[in-house]
Amino acid sequence: MKVLREKIQDEGIVLSDGVLKVDSFLNHQIDPYLMKEIGSEFARLFKAEGITKIVTIESSGISPAVFAGLELGVKVIFARKKKSLTLTDNLLVSSVYSFTKQEENTITVSSQFITESDRVLIIDDFLANGEAAKGLIEIVKKAGASVIGIGIVIEKSFQKGAEELKDLGYRVESLARIKSLTDGKVRFVEDQVE
Ligand code: G4P
Ligand code: NA
Ligand code: NA
Repeated sequence: MKVLREKIQDEGIVLSDGVLKVDSFLNHQIDPYLMKEIGSEFARLFKAEGITKIVTIESSGISPAVFAGLELGVKVIFARKKKSLTLTDNLLVSSVYSFTKQEENTITVSSQFITESDRVLIIDDFLANGEAAKGLIEIVKKAGASVIGIGIVIEKSFQKGAEELKDLGYRVESLARIKSLTDGKVRFVEDQVE
């Protein structure tokens, strides 16, 4: 998605060879115009798949997921990372290991919102090692529903997540794919093919 690659080049800050900061439009401040286009692009990519639900994870997955849900006309569920006061019974639970924080986190979704007949699109802001996506897949499977695809705003293609998910047979659609962040520069996989 060209407009997204341009936004990353204009506003993204390379913090290290492994980490890109995009707080001005995705992870802190949100650009709703760009997010609307991102939602439309996910909807275009998956519109033929009969998606019935979108599942994401708080917090930064929520905005692209909501715009995609609006376009596809389906509800959006976000997995919670912290225990909720009111979310108590019939929980679908998965454990997600964070490499960045080096800790294991429990993510939860209430079982009432995903049913066996659901055809689920998983959406997230970043794909690095794929731990979050795998946790969401586990939750969808525990509900007895089907994972139809995975939509990612920014994929770091130099980490193993995308390849692993594809090897598991999932359709992964990433709107920007970063080949490297070395020398303080963002290089996209797409740079080579255009
Ligand atoms: P993984 O799920 O792919 O294995 O990734 P990891 O544990 O490494 O990621 C932990 C958090 O860091 C996630 O957000 C993920 O989206 C984010 N992340 C990973 N790599 C980058 C990066 O290069 N840049 C930015 N900006 N974020 C990255 P989170 O902690 O769940 O936070 P939230 O933003 O969704 O609230
Ligand atoms: Na994130
Ligand atoms: Na996220």
